[in-house]
Amino acid sequence: MNNVWFITGASNGFGLALAKKLLASGYKVAATSRNKANIEEKIGTNPNLLALTVDITNDDEVKTAIDETVKTFGNIDVAVNNAGYMLLGALEEVSAKEFQQSVGVNVFAFQNVIRNVMPYFRKQKSGHFFNFASSAGYGADAGAGSYNAVKSAVIGLSEALALEAKPFNINVTIVSPGLFRTNFLGAFPIAQNKIEVYNTQKLVDAMNQYHGQQPGNPDKLVKILIDLAGKEIAPLHLLMGKDAYQRATTYYQSQLEKLEAFKELSSSTDFE
Ligand SMILES: NC(=O)c1ccc[n+]([C@@H]2O[C@H](COP(=O)([O-])OP(=O)(O)OC[C@H]3O[C@@H](n4cnc5c(N)ncnc54)[C@H](OP(=O)(O)O)[C@@H]3O)[C@@H](O)[C@H]2O)c1
Repeated sequence: MNNVWFITGASNGFGLALAKKLLASGYKVAATSRNKANIEEKIGTNPNLLALTVDITNDDEVKTAIDETVKTFGNIDVAVNNAGYMLLGALEEVSAKEFQQSVGVNVFAFQNVIRNVMPYFRKQKSGHFFNFASSAGYGADAGAGSYNAVKSAVIGLSEALALEAKPFNINVTIVSPGLFRTNFLGAFPIAQNKIEVYNTQKLVDAMNQYHGQQPGNPDKLVKILIDLAGKEIAPLHLLMGKDAYQRATTYYQSQLEKLEAFKELSSSTDFE
């Protein structure tokens, strides 16, 4: 059980740490990257590793990768939608193309994996999805609206997936890290169209300063995922890091108060 893992974006950060830890413990790992050589370079050859070059925004390529995983290892037990990136820029600065590309990688690609893994999970009546959202999906930041949007979308679609998958004994866990020391803040894109008044550069500088100083340890996070995989009672929402816990709980508490403040108005729209 939980022997075969399929992981997107495994050449860096959480994906790489997870693949390494799984392989060291004898699991079988299919790991995707835009260039599989980047995985092979960092992990080396291992009979339990299937490194795959995949454009995860391309449904056919994702299907082929998943079929190849099953052909190689016999099945898939755990699918990890991990690959993602943060685009910074005020919404007026972000171009349609930049936003669409971000949604393509951070949301549509997740559904490509879900759509193509589900037939296998349903047939075997077991499976576990770990979908990477972010604490940024539980609240907004000026200058990161496109990232807030895609991570909120991951939370929303994963909640629906959990309901759809439950009758087939399939688990869904939304992994929402705070700041973790991966390559994430090492090279993130910034909207090309800069509009001075938004001072996006200030946010970019703040993020750059965090790089290498983030409190979260990726090795600790990936160990938790391995321990949770396939557990009968696995959390749907998994906040990772004190900062993520603080942010999400503060958000929910403050939202409830704000919603209650307008209860009368909200309740005034039914036909009499
Ligand atoms: N680290 C944090 O502080 C943090 C916090 C909250 C959420 N997260 C989430 O955690 C997940 C993993 O991030 P990480 O921290 O491990 O970052 P990372 O070290 O930068 O690694 C990101 C991985 O995602 C893939 N990726 C990045 N841009 C891509 C693109 N345009 N198209 C396809 N794949 C792309 C890369 O795959 P290739 O192999 O193809 O390069 C890479 O292996 C992401 O979903 C991120 O949003 C991270």
